[in-house]
Amino acid sequence: MNELTIARAIHILSIVIWMGGVAFVTLVLIPTIRRSSFMSDEFYLFNLIENRFASIARTLVLIAGLSGFYMIHQLNAWNRFWEIRYFWMHTMVLIWLMFVLALFLIEPFFIKDHGRIVKDGHNFVNLQKTQLVHSIILTLSLITIFISVLGAHGVFT
Ligand code: HEM
Repeated sequence: MNELTIARAIHILSIVIWMGGVAFVTLVLIPTIRRSSFMSDEFYLFNLIENRFASIARTLVLIAGLSGFYMIHQLNAWNRFWEIRYFWMHTMVLIWLMFVLALFLIEPFFIKDHGRIVKDGHNFVNLQKTQLVHSIILTLSLITIFISVLGAHGVFT
């Protein structure tokens, strides 16, 4: 077992936990909260769960990025970014950048507290928007996983 294989295993482990969490928030947490009677305890709980997941996701995003760039280095694959048949590599980096922006900039500085927004009386609209945004992000991420596995196993080359 060489370093590249270990980096690949770490890359996939971080992505499984990270995207599993995104799927849980999108498909279970937000719909459940939206269907509930909007008691303040539920908002509080929603907030706690989201914030806790965001801090786990931050670590996983870093690990996925480090292991990914390490693999590029090991494979000596930087020139792939100049070739269209490696579009799945661009897609991975774009999705990763989107999460870096969301978790390190947008969430902590602009929408830190979903629950507070909700309690301020914009509840329905905001959670609707939250669900839409999460659904789009989840769909793009799943497509990325799908095409990356195909790409890494030579389907596009
Ligand atoms: C900075 C961000 C990222 C970098 C630099 C990166 C880099 C890489 C590299 C170099 C490979 C191996 C390609 C090969 O074997 O030819 C790989 C595989 C893979 N990556 Fe990423 N990646 C990043 C982010 C992501 C993200 C965000 C996802 C998921 C949404 C993802 C999912 C995968 C998958 C599923 C594989 C295929 C593993 C396999 O089947 O062997 N990566 N990545």
